Amino acid sequence: MKLRTRIILVYGTIFLFLMGSVVVAASFLISNSFRKVHQQDVENLQNMIDNEYKLLGERANNEVSRIAKSYGAEIVHALSAVETVRDTWRLIGGGTSMDILELGNADGTIVASVHDPARFGINDKEALRFAKSKNREPLLRIRAGNRLTVECISPVPTKGKALAFVVGGYFLKDQLKLEGTGADFIFLLQGNIPSVIYGEGASVDELKEKLVEIAQPRKETNPPKQEIKTPLVSKVNIQQNKSLKHKWLQWLKGSEQPEIELPKIHIGKKEYTAGIVPLMSRRNTQLGAIIATFSDTQSKLIQIKLIRSLFGVALAGIFAAYIAGYFISKSVTKPIQDLVDGVGVIASGNLDHRIESDAHGEVKFLVDSVNDMTVSLKENRERAISAERIAAWQDVARTMAHEIKNPLWPIQSSIRSLKRAYQSNRDDFEGIFDECTETIVEEVESLRKIVDEFSQFARMPKPQLVECELNEVIKDTLTLYTGHPEKVEISTEFENIPKILGDKEQLSRTFINIITNAVQAMPDGGKLTISTSLNSQPEFVKAIFADTGIGISPETQEKIFQPYFTTKKSGTGLGMAVAHRVITDHKGTIEVESKENVGTKFTILLPTA
Ligand SMILES: Nc1ncnc2c1ncn2[C@@H]1O[C@H](COP(=O)(O)OP(=O)(O)O)[C@@H](O)[C@H]1O
Ligand SMILES: [Mg+2]
Repeated sequence: MKLRTRIILVYGTIFLFLMGSVVVAASFLISNSFRKVHQQDVENLQNMIDNEYKLLGERANNEVSRIAKSYGAEIVHALSAVETVRDTWRLIGGGTSMDILELGNADGTIVASVHDPARFGINDKEALRFAKSKNREPLLRIRAGNRLTVECISPVPTKGKALAFVVGGYFLKDQLKLEGTGADFIFLLQGNIPSVIYGEGASVDELKEKLVEIAQPRKETNPPKQEIKTPLVSKVNIQQNKSLKHKWLQWLKGSEQPEIELPKIHIGKKEYTAGIVPLMSRRNTQLGAIIATFSDTQSKLIQIKLIRSLFGVALAGIFAAYIAGYFISKSVTKPIQDLVDGVGVIASGNLDHRIESDAHGEVKFLVDSVNDMTVSLKENRERAISAERIAAWQDVARTMAHEIKNPLWPIQSSIRSLKRAYQSNRDDFEGIFDECTETIVEEVESLRKIVDEFSQFARMPKPQLVECELNEVIKDTLTLYTGHPEKVEISTEFENIPKILGDKEQLSRTFINIITNAVQAMPDGGKLTISTSLNSQPEFVKAIFADTGIGISPETQEKIFQPYFTTKKSGTGLGMAVAHRVITDHKGTIEVESKENVGTKFTILLPTA
């Protein structure tokens, strides 16, 4: 991956991450603030219920004490005549708005009930106790059919006669007016039977079912022994979350208020938050509850809107990151890319290459250093090459001197014997003369050959490059060998290859050297295969000369291209040196691979025209 792409990717990722965090944080804050709103709504509801309850209680109290006072005489009279008490009571009840109106006697037995005549004779101890006490606070009670009531009890003034009391009140379900609370639905749970007191909709029934589960009155395991005065509605269960996470959130919201976890209910795709206000009796048992449900539709809507707009911003941000990446790449990564490209060129062997860059700072320093390094590398290489060349020529000169010395000695001794024979005037002088001159001519001839070959090698002219077909050059060369080496088979595998720029004569001389060596390496016969093909590096053609000869030992392989290196008695050791020289002058390469007693393979690469 290129540096530029990487930078852009990193930018994009960081941006996406930031945007993601913002979206998550924002939607969290939104849902949280909605939760706070719901919490507030639940508190308002609680206050509303308290007020309603108080009002109902006052009304009931007023009515009950009014009836007890104004009908006291009739009540006392009626109590003494059991047959008439029901009629009297119905009469009195006709004049009140209360849902419940009952009359009890001194042992707490209900002697008349307007709303439920069947309660005649039932003992209401709780009412009796209240009648006897001074407490006139309203009571929350649950009556037959799971109906919650707000009731008051008032003793009837009886002027010394046995006690009587009036019980009066209202059904909560019919009297509670809870509107404008922000809730979608409000349910009244009486015992474990829920009924709707506010709102209507398709999900009411489903909600009802689920609500019963979460708001079921808790079984009081330890009912308080003493009658304690508790508020009708206790505060919604306040769970103070002490975990670090919640403390954090609280800090985030900047509020001191304790966290209230309102339960959530799912109906289909909709989510409801439920606020539960338990309704408690005076003995602190839960008789029921008022449950308000708030749908999260609005909060979800705002969240979606926010996420959508943030997403838009994020897209724009990524686009901006790409633009920024482009400019950054221009100022930062381009010089580095230039440097990388340049080092690549230099590493591939082109030491004349100079990296050009408008970099600044460290990168400029780096570029300059690489350029300086390339210069000194080139100088070193040239120095090494010339040293190598000098050493090579020293070798050549030494070998030459040795080669020349060999014929010099026979010449010298021939001349000496000739002189001696002449001076001593020998009879066989003629024979000696012939012998000696013959030796001298022979040795001089050998000297001439050495000098000729040397000058041929040393003064080898630069190749005259012309466009030519490599296959044709090889074919022409091979005509020299037709039928010549009897035991050696020469086969060719020519591919259709592009033309090359070459000096036909020099190339032919090279191939002669290689083929001659191959033939010499197969004294007992064998096969030489010559093939040409297009190299995988497309600007080069390849020629391979593979024989099945004696092969070359690894130590020898290193030396075969050196001038005067030979393993043969009558060899000059110049053949492969010439071949190497010609191929390198053609800007090609020649390599040898060999296995002793298996064969030798020369691979030549030549640039195409
Ligand atoms: N095809 C071959 N098989 C075996 N040895 C080879 C082959 N080609 C070259 N050589 C080795 O390389 C040496 C150098 O070859 P060359 O330069 O042509 O000199 P010369 O043929 O005069 O010995 C040879 O003496 C021989 O040892
Ligand atoms: Mg040779």
